[in-house]
Amino acid sequence: MRKTIRQTLPIAALLVGFGTGALADDGPHDKAIKARQAMFQLYGFNIGILSAMAKGKMDYDADIALEAAENLDAAANLGQSQFWPQGSDNETEGNARTRALPVIWSTFPAIVEKADALKTATAALVPVAGNGLDELKGAMGDVGASCKGCHDDYRAEKK
Ligand code: HEC
Repeated sequence: MRKTIRQTLPIAALLVGFGTGALADDGPHDKAIKARQAMFQLYGFNIGILSAMAKGKMDYDADIALEAAENLDAAANLGQSQFWPQGSDNETEGNARTRALPVIWSTFPAIVEKADALKTATAALVPVAGNGLDELKGAMGDVGASCKGCHDDYRAEKK
């Protein structure tokens, strides 16, 4: 019994060490980084549903398509003024994992144009997403292009 405890304790200490150290979100901007990534996860999840329908990998369902389009539009319209603090780029030390390039801040507000392009595309998507597969497909191109348009300029490649 005693032996077991002795063997267990150092492991527990190690785990606590990790908890407060390397793996913790303890950088000054980590909460904002997580928040914007959560927003992008919502983009990705909802466009994933629409793409699956457009590609025939999932049966078209008007209600689900409309809901996903509305979710995407709502997420695209979230206020982001606190999601992008100065210093939360991928080159500043001490940040949580992020692919946000410093050029976002050095050329600001140029990126807002890209965010607006997405809003325009999702606004056009919502009224047609529930009108059948062809109309959904017709509105998807601009949405996808607006994602890519921003990523090409402002998001680092995956390491
Ligand atoms: C205005 C610019 C912009 C637009 C528009 C945009 N993205 Fe992004 N996206 C980024 C940036 C910058 C990051 C990196 C954020 C970070 O790691 O801090 C990112 C990250 C992501 C991620 C990874 C999130 C994570 O958990 O690390 C996903 C998924 C994503 N975007 C999907 C999309 C989809 C889908 C669209 C279109 C519907 C889209 N994005 C539109 C700029 C944009």
